[in-house]
Amino acid sequence: MPRRILTGVNDLIPALTELHRLPVAQQPTYPDPGALAAALADLRLRPPLVFAGECDELKHRIAEVAAGRSFMLQGGDCAETFESVTAVNIRGKLRVLLSMAVVLTYAAQVPVLKVGRIAGQYAKPRSKDTETRDGVTLPAYRGDAVNGLPFTEADRIPDPQRLIEVYNRSAATLNLLRAFVKGGFADLRAVHTWNSDFVRNSNVEARYENMAAEIERALAFMVACGVDNESFRTVDFYASHEALLLEYEHALTRIDSRTGTPYDTSAHMVWIGERTRQLDGAHVEFLRHVRNPIGIKVGPSADPADIVALCERLDPDLEPGRLTLITRMGAGRIREALPPIVRAVEDTGRKVAWVCDPMHGNTFETSLGYKTRAFSQVVEEVNGFFDVHEALGTWPGGVHIELTGDDVTECVGGVDELVEADLANRYESACDPRMNRSQSLELAFTVAERLTSGRIMRVNPIQEFHAEDF
Ligand code: PEP
Ligand code: CO
Repeated sequence: MPRRILTGVNDLIPALTELHRLPVAQQPTYPDPGALAAALADLRLRPPLVFAGECDELKHRIAEVAAGRSFMLQGGDCAETFESVTAVNIRGKLRVLLSMAVVLTYAAQVPVLKVGRIAGQYAKPRSKDTETRDGVTLPAYRGDAVNGLPFTEADRIPDPQRLIEVYNRSAATLNLLRAFVKGGFADLRAVHTWNSDFVRNSNVEARYENMAAEIERALAFMVACGVDNESFRTVDFYASHEALLLEYEHALTRIDSRTGTPYDTSAHMVWIGERTRQLDGAHVEFLRHVRNPIGIKVGPSADPADIVALCERLDPDLEPGRLTLITRMGAGRIREALPPIVRAVEDTGRKVAWVCDPMHGNTFETSLGYKTRAFSQVVEEVNGFFDVHEALGTWPGGVHIELTGDDVTECVGGVDELVEADLANRYESACDPRMNRSQSLELAFTVAERLTSGRIMRVNPIQEFHAEDF
């Protein structure tokens, strides 16, 4: 059986050696090729982390986003770390995402597709190959999938055993997520309890508590009327990450027994980063062969014709839900950089999901050396995104956020009015600054307001509201 599956994969996706003949960016150089080969051989025999049918289901849901009938909430850590795979952390991220989804669903009355940057987001593209501290230069940290964060020579050596650890930690994370979302934690009637350790005096928390109380009353009414539906108790939640490490993604690709086609079973959805989306590059060549829904990050310097060509390459058959364009322009550039790209893609008649990543174009360094983002800039980019789509008559299909369930101090501003001096209090990200729980909830309220105001809802009326869509 494994032999047949392996043969099938090799027939249907390009071999790693072929991929490495193409331009390939952001890959580690492993000092011991034998150890890498052994790790990959091990991964190739492991069970898939997700089922191809789930990837298809997600694709159908993304098609709904592309059609203007649903809104995607994608979020999680910039970089997951092995040590952060604890029940407390996973639960914290899930509940902030579920809380945001409830805000969007209830306040904006729009079905929300929930996708985590989780259970596989362990590899990072870097702008520099090396890092220098106090005159010492070492290889850059590329995520726990590749090397270690501590600034020592030994930690920074790429270690292929880490790929096995990515698989193990992703499996453990997915297992708990599946248990949470189907086992009662996500029960809508528990909407208050997601928040219980967080009750504070901020107006965001108060707003959330009021809304939760309204939802509870509405649900109690429905139950009293005899409507007690399974869909109040469970939610659908999908896992995604950047498909950066070709070796890992390749080794987890399996042939779907139903359709005989290849799926990257490391996640339901994978995306291609701003730095690795070269049209003739290895990442595009690999991803065009797998049938998962694919995200493409699009930055402010993107040429609209290149993005159209990339869409054609990755989705020649115009498959509904195949492509999500995750634009990350920066608050100052979105209004001029986004319209030509949206127009160029829409002019081809293709329907993609348009999602706003208001994080990666808005990072700056403080005088004390902290990488941060200002909440006001994040909101400004989201507003620019809504304004552009409103002006063009296209559906602003979602947001892609770096967040955590903890009370970290990594982004400035927001309801708690964090200032640069506060960043030292609790800065824990292994990579980019994440929004904390109250900043995330505040953003959800802002997005909900944009979804309910203006022309957008009239252009794309939501016909029905299903409880399972919360
Ligand atoms: C990321 O999403 O963490 C990332 C590196 O994004 P981008 O490719 O858009 O820079
Ligand atoms: Co990031």
